[in-house]
Amino acid sequence: MKVLAISSSPRRDGNSWTMAEAAAKGAREAGHEVESVYLADHVGGMLDDCRRCRLSDGACGIGDGYERLLMDRVLPADGLIIATPLYWYGMNGRLKTFFDRLFCYTAGSSPVGETVSAALPGKRVAALISCEESYRGATLGLEAQFQELTRYLHQELVGIVVGVGNSRGEVGSDPSRPLERAEDLGRRLFDVRVTDYRLDTPRSNRVWGAPEHEDDELY
Ligand SMILES: Cc1cc2nc3c(=O)[nH]c(=O)nc-3n(C[C@H](O)[C@H](O)[C@H](O)COP(=O)(O)O)c2cc1C
Repeated sequence: MKVLAISSSPRRDGNSWTMAEAAAKGAREAGHEVESVYLADHVGGMLDDCRRCRLSDGACGIGDGYERLLMDRVLPADGLIIATPLYWYGMNGRLKTFFDRLFCYTAGSSPVGETVSAALPGKRVAALISCEESYRGATLGLEAQFQELTRYLHQELVGIVVGVGNSRGEVGSDPSRPLERAEDLGRRLFDVRVTDYRLDTPRSNRVWGAPEHEDDELY
């Protein structure tokens, strides 16, 4: 499988990059083809008023590497590892801009709108968050946003790893071992069991295979 690891912090060898590389290592060890990118190398401009900056054929007119990143790297990937530092209790601005600008590429007026909208669903997504605070509420809004983004895009959010650290690379000292958890998530990117039941979803009583004893079925 193809995997793209996107690190969105402006700090090149910072905590989110370190977490992204841990997940990339796991994915590579599982036999996947993995590429890592710094979002800052590709995304420069913010979403603007499309009526003003859209080109005459409906294409986005913001002249940076966004389109090539999207078309050549994001769309062909089967799995995405998305790493962000927590900024003001949300994702960092460049990653938000990455999502904001998807609007221009999925719009009906875009010459690539149908291609992009057809290629975004089905990807498996691992989200990695680095932050200073260990307060559980600090990342909750962002975790919910990742859940809703992937739901909207028909993607599977396989897991979220939060690593606590502030200085460059400090997540490696977090006793909750976020780097190991990120590596494990990367390794299992395509194996993690993702469910989203409804009342009438057909299912057995057991989640993980056959019972060892018949009585187990009672529980
Ligand atoms: C602009 C800015 C806003 C931040 N906001 C928060 C925050 O709301 N909560 C938090 O716990 N840490 C916050 N931090 C700290 C970073 O999330 C933390 O240092 C993170 O590990 C940086 O990751 P990086 O090395 O990948 O850039 C903020 C840092 C910056 C620069």
